[in-house]
Amino acid sequence: MRLAIKAVCAASRKLTWAILASLALVGVVACASSVTKPRAEPWPTLATLAPPRAPDNNPSTPIKVELGRRLFYDGDLSFTGVMSCATCHEQKRGFSDPNKTRPGVFDDPGDRNIQTLANVGYFSSLTWGGPQVDILEHQALIPIEGLKPVEMGFNRGPEGALPQRLKDQACYPQLFAAAFPEKQGEISMDTITKALAAFQRSLVSLDSPYDRYRRGDAKAISAQAKRGEAVFEAKQCSSCHAGAHFTDAALPGVKPAEAFHALAPPKEGEALKVDTGLHRITQKVEDAYKFRTPGLRNVAVSAPYMHDGEAATLANAIRHHYAAAERQMDERLKQTVSDADVVDLVAFLESLTDQGFITNPAFALPPSGCPVPTSAELQREEANSARLHNSPPGP
Ligand code: HEC
Ligand code: HEC
Repeated sequence: MRLAIKAVCAASRKLTWAILASLALVGVVACASSVTKPRAEPWPTLATLAPPRAPDNNPSTPIKVELGRRLFYDGDLSFTGVMSCATCHEQKRGFSDPNKTRPGVFDDPGDRNIQTLANVGYFSSLTWGGPQVDILEHQALIPIEGLKPVEMGFNRGPEGALPQRLKDQACYPQLFAAAFPEKQGEISMDTITKALAAFQRSLVSLDSPYDRYRRGDAKAISAQAKRGEAVFEAKQCSSCHAGAHFTDAALPGVKPAEAFHALAPPKEGEALKVDTGLHRITQKVEDAYKFRTPGLRNVAVSAPYMHDGEAATLANAIRHHYAAAERQMDERLKQTVSDADVVDLVAFLESLTDQGFITNPAFALPPSGCPVPTSAELQREEANSARLHNSPPGP
C-alpha cells in the first residue's frame, strides 16, 4: 500500500494542480502527509538500538575500545611504520578517503575503493566482495597481513613481528593488561584484532538530520530531501539500501551472500578486464559482478563511489545503477531515473551526514601519552619514544 502511495506521489509531483485536484481525496492526503511529515514507524535512537553484537569471546569494554582506538591510529601497525588504519579510514570522511584506490606501504596499487565504517559492527558481511569475511576480528588481518593487495605490509618480517613491536613500547603492555586481564595482557594478533574490532563496534552513527526527521523533527531536513526520500522508496533503492544502516547486509535474517547485487554487468569484450566481485570468491557464474550493498551513512562526505571508485559524485553513483539497462539482470534496476529524481535523491543522501559522528572526539586521533596509569619512568619513556604511533591520518 505504501509503495502504491509513493508511486502516486512520485507521479503526482509532475502533474498540474488541476489534475491533482481530480485525484481521490484520500490519495492526496496520504501523499501530502508522506512527503511533508516523518513516517510514523519507530526509528532507532542511540538509546533504543542495541549495540552491535560482539562475539562471546570478545565482549566490548571501555578500556578495550580505547586500546582499539589507539591501535587504529597507530602507524606502527604497518611494516614501515607510516600507515595506520586511519590513513585510509579518515573520520572526517565517514572513515573513508578521497582516492579511487590507495597504494599500500610498498606502493602496490590498491584494488578497491576504501569503505566507510559507520555502523560496520552491524554488518553480517564485510568488504565489497567477501561474504566469508563476516566478523571484524578477522577482517583486520586483511589490511595488516594481506597479500592481495599488500596494504600495511606485515606479510613481511618474522611471524610475531607486530606483537613484538608493541611489546617493546612503554604503554601498550599496560593497556593490553587492562583490556585483556583474562589473558594476562597477552599481546598477539588475536588480542590486537579483538581490540580493533571493539573500537570499530563503537562507531555508531545515528544522529544525522534524516535520523532527527524520522524521530519526529519535521524541519530537520529540506523539502527537497523529503522528495528524495520518497523517490528512494519509489525506485526501490531502499530494498537494497535497507533499514537504519542503509544496507541489506545489516538486516536481521539476511544471509551474507544475499546482500550482494550486480548493478551493471560489463559489455562482452570488457568482461575480462574488470573486477568480477563475489565471483572472485565463489567462482559461480551467477555471482559475476555482484558486490555487497554499501551502507549510505555519511555517503556525501565519502566520495568517490562504488567498488572501483569510478563514480566521482553522488549523482554519478546513482546513474551508474542504471547505466546498462539492456544488460541489467536485476528487475529493480530495469527502470530510469530522471534528472529531477537524481537531484532530489542527492539532497536526501546529503541528509545522512552525521556531523556529530564525523567530529566525535571519542573516535578521533587519541591524545598522546598513556591512557592507563603507568610508572613515572614508563611515562617518560613513552613521551620520549621515537615511534610513529598516533600518526595522524594521511592526506
Ligand atoms: C591502504 C588503505 C587501507 C588501510 C591501511 C586499511 N584499510 Fe580498511 N579498507 C580498505 C579498502 C580498500 C577496503 C575495501 C576492501 C575490499 O572490499 O576488498 C577496506 C575495508 C575495510 C572494512 C570493511 C568495511 C565494510 O563496509 O565492509 C573494515 C572493517 C576495515 N577496512 C577496517 C580496517 C582496519 C581495522 C584497518 C587497520 C588495521 C584498515 N581497515 C586499514 C583500505 C584500507
Ligand atoms: C539491487 C540492489 C540496489 C538497488 C535497488 C540500489 N542500489 Fe545502490 N548500490 C548497490 C550496490 C551493490 C552498490 C555497490 C556497487 C558497486 O560498487 O559496484 C551500490 C552503490 C551505491 C552508492 C555508492 C555508495 C558508495 O559508498 O560507494 C550509492 C550512493 C547508491 N548505491 C545509492 C542508491 C540509490 C539512490 C538507489 C536508488 C535510486 C540505489 N542505490 C539502488 C545496490 C543497490
